[in-house]
Amino acid sequence: MTGILQLLLLVSATVASEPSCPACSKYDYEEKVLERIIRMEFAFEKVLKENKAVSKTVEQDLTRFKEENERLHATVDALKDQHERAERRLVSLMGEFERNQSSTLERTVSDSNTTLEQTIAAFNGKKDQIAIPLVYFHAHSPQTSSLSTGEVIVYKTVETNDGNGYSPTTGKFTAPVRGLYLFFMHTCTPSNNYAFLHIVKEGTVLIATSHYDKDYYTCSSSQAIVQLEAGETVWVQSSSGASNRILNEDHPYRWTSFSGVLLHN
Ligand SMILES: *[C@@H]1O[C@H](CO)[C@@H](O)[C@H](O)[C@H]1NC(C)=O
Ligand SMILES: *[C@@H]1O[C@H](CO)[C@@H](O)[C@H](O)[C@H]1NC(C)=O
Repeated sequence: MTGILQLLLLVSATVASEPSCPACSKYDYEEKVLERIIRMEFAFEKVLKENKAVSKTVEQDLTRFKEENERLHATVDALKDQHERAERRLVSLMGEFERNQSSTLERTVSDSNTTLEQTIAAFNGKKDQIAIPLVYFHAHSPQTSSLSTGEVIVYKTVETNDGNGYSPTTGKFTAPVRGLYLFFMHTCTPSNNYAFLHIVKEGTVLIATSHYDKDYYTCSSSQAIVQLEAGETVWVQSSSGASNRILNEDHPYRWTSFSGVLLHN
């Protein structure tokens, strides 16, 4: 653009300075015009050259802009890709986290269940040890009705003998397990006869009774509660023997009897 303006100014300057002198020769005039035309050609060529240089610079600038633009586009695309990848990773991590949470929860529930089941099993195992075993006997009908001093009463009819502690051969009860026991004896005599009986543990008297009625066939009861080690024995014995020391059974249920039960172990 600058080049074209310069050219126009040059042309107008040339036209403006055409000779007005009538004395000048035609040849002289033509020579001057030619000279100017040549100068104009030079000037024009110079302007063209400058123009070319300018347009080359502009072209280079444009190329740079284009390249820059492409680089920017590429950067933006890369950022977009990166963003999308990050978003996808986040979504997948969130999914994994949720799955992990629920599987952790399942594991916790299942572990608790296992622990609970083990506790229940252990408890059931202990329960059998803790529970009081069944030890109970009831025997009646003494082998002999007339009593002698120190005689162990052997109740020969066994109604019950859970735990097998009572022996109808010896009349003695042997504790199968350690524990607190209750013993009970029921003593009946014919009228006008006596009975002097003891419940004895290993030879030590736990309780004594004396029983007598002048007119009737009567019965009385005695109880003893005692702690026994396994294997210790308890029995009933007479502390006095004579011809009027007689035990009696005159009725199907009016039994002269001996019983015992484990209360606590
Ligand atoms: C999911 O659990 C696995 C295995 O325990 C672990 O490696 C991973 O980091 C967990 N993922 C998440 C998101 O918590
Ligand atoms: C716990 O264990 C029992 C017995 O195996 C099973 O029947 C029950 O479904 C379990 N409960 C849970 C919550 O897993």
